[in-house]
Amino acid sequence: MRDLELMEAALRAREAAYAPYSRFRVGAALLSSDGTLYTGCNVENASYSLTNCAERVAFGKAVSEGMRSFSAIAIVGGCDDASDFSLCAPCGACRQVMAEFCNADFRILLGDPSHISVYTLAELLPFSFSLEKDQGGTSL
Ligand code: THU
Repeated sequence: MRDLELMEAALRAREAAYAPYSRFRVGAALLSSDGTLYTGCNVENASYSLTNCAERVAFGKAVSEGMRSFSAIAIVGGCDDASDFSLCAPCGACRQVMAEFCNADFRILLGDPSHISVYTLAELLPFSFSLEKDQGGTSL
C-alpha cells in the first residue's frame, strides 16, 4: 500500500474519533507486514485517564486478531473543525507500544494526505526499553 493511501485511511479513521472532552480527533492506520490494514481512532472517557489513543486502538485491534508484524502507521490529528492538519506526533505511551511490536525501521507517517512526513521508530523512540530486537536500547 502506498503512503498516500495509508494516510487517507488514517484520515477516514479519524471520522469515528470519540473526543467530546479534548475535541482533538485522531485517526491511525496501521499496516501489517502482510498488507492487512488496521485502523483506530481516539476514544475518550469522562474519567480522562481512561482515554485510548488512536494508535493504541489500532495496535489492540491488530494484536487481538493475531497480527504482530507491522511495517508502517499513518497518524492524522487535529481539532474538531480542522480541515488541514499540522503534524500530530504519537505520544510517549504509543511509541512504547510500537516498540513492543515493531522494529527500528518501522515507518511513522505524520501530517495529512497533502503533506506526509516520514519518520522511523528509531528516530522517535531512540534507546527504548523492549524485548531484544534491533532497537539498540535496553532489553529484557
Ligand atoms: N491522542 C491520540 O489519539 N494519539 C496520540 O498519540 C496523542 C493524543 C488523543 C488522546 C486524546 O483523546 C486527544 O488526542 C488529546 O490528547
